[in-house]
Amino acid sequence: MAPFQGITNLVFREVFTCHFTGVNKLLTPFFTSIHKQNLSTSRSKELLHVSEHGIPVVPQILSKDADEMLRFAGFCQQLGFDEINWNMGCPYPRVARKGRGSGMLPHPDKVEEILSQIMPELPLKLSVKLRLGYENPDEILNLIPVFNHFPLEELAIHARVGKQLYKGSANFTAFERAMQQSTIPVGYNGDIFTKKDYLKVNDLFPKLSFVMLGRGLLADPFLPATIKQQPVPELAEQKQLIRRFVDDLYFERRKQHRDGLQTLGNMKEYWWYLSFSFSNPHKVFSRVKKVKSFNDYEDAVNSLFSDFEWVGHQANLFKKEKNK
Ligand SMILES: Cc1cc2nc3c(=O)[nH]c(=O)nc-3n(C[C@H](O)[C@H](O)[C@H](O)COP(=O)(O)O)c2cc1C
Repeated sequence: MAPFQGITNLVFREVFTCHFTGVNKLLTPFFTSIHKQNLSTSRSKELLHVSEHGIPVVPQILSKDADEMLRFAGFCQQLGFDEINWNMGCPYPRVARKGRGSGMLPHPDKVEEILSQIMPELPLKLSVKLRLGYENPDEILNLIPVFNHFPLEELAIHARVGKQLYKGSANFTAFERAMQQSTIPVGYNGDIFTKKDYLKVNDLFPKLSFVMLGRGLLADPFLPATIKQQPVPELAEQKQLIRRFVDDLYFERRKQHRDGLQTLGNMKEYWWYLSFSFSNPHKVFSRVKKVKSFNDYEDAVNSLFSDFEWVGHQANLFKKEKNK
């Protein structure tokens, strides 16, 4: 499961794995600005579980500072984690301009310096999530030889450059070049919305170690199980299970926020993705988008479940929206 700041936090990971199968690793949204030996209580609460229903959780860090990374690693090790993940993919100009996230990709010398400093002391495994480059998809070709010098666990590559944000298409040619160069296990990330998308990627890159699912999984939580050919119920039963899942998520978030109204913001953010597996995504989302109270939210969810069909990922509405 790919990480999503604001969505795939502890509560989401816990509730998701309670309802669905198919995922075998859960990345946390990134942690940053770790200035002290210990994280604040609210941030460390997010790292309360080293696994969810037997599925390992991997804390992610966004940093360009070796000392900060070692502090975070030490903290995660004390909590019992086995691996951390380094974010070199975040595309947002605010982050990239400071040389963090995908802003680190044009600087293999800096990456080498950090890895040389941290790897001898790192108390747990390190994986990296990255893009092909910041401006240009060849940037990764100068980075892979650096990664190859270190015993990294795996590389999850989102087949776009930072400057693209989420626009345009994934670059299969540049991804393949990078994968061929790597002696570290490589996973693919980017635009897997249906089983067909997965089969295409798997066909093109038979040596892949794993795929990482993001928006496709948020839109249809049955996608991982479908890909893994695990039993998945018919659409009508899926709809009932999705209802139970979103209700659990909602009530758990209310508990987390002690009935604070930010629950509504969280749920709206998630509904934007989930709506793409209903028959009319725009109408579904507009019902949820405007709610201002818990009563409004509950009425909106009741009405949308009775008025719209659950069509799942087969309908491929996410991609249709993207290609408009
Ligand atoms: C709102 C949002 C928040 C995200 N937060 C993170 C994050 O914290 N860490 C990270 O590595 N990637 C983050 N991503 C990127 C996703 O993990 C993923 O790489 C991206 O959506 C591409 O995969 P997909 O096409 O399967 O969705 C975020 C993406 C979005 C849209």
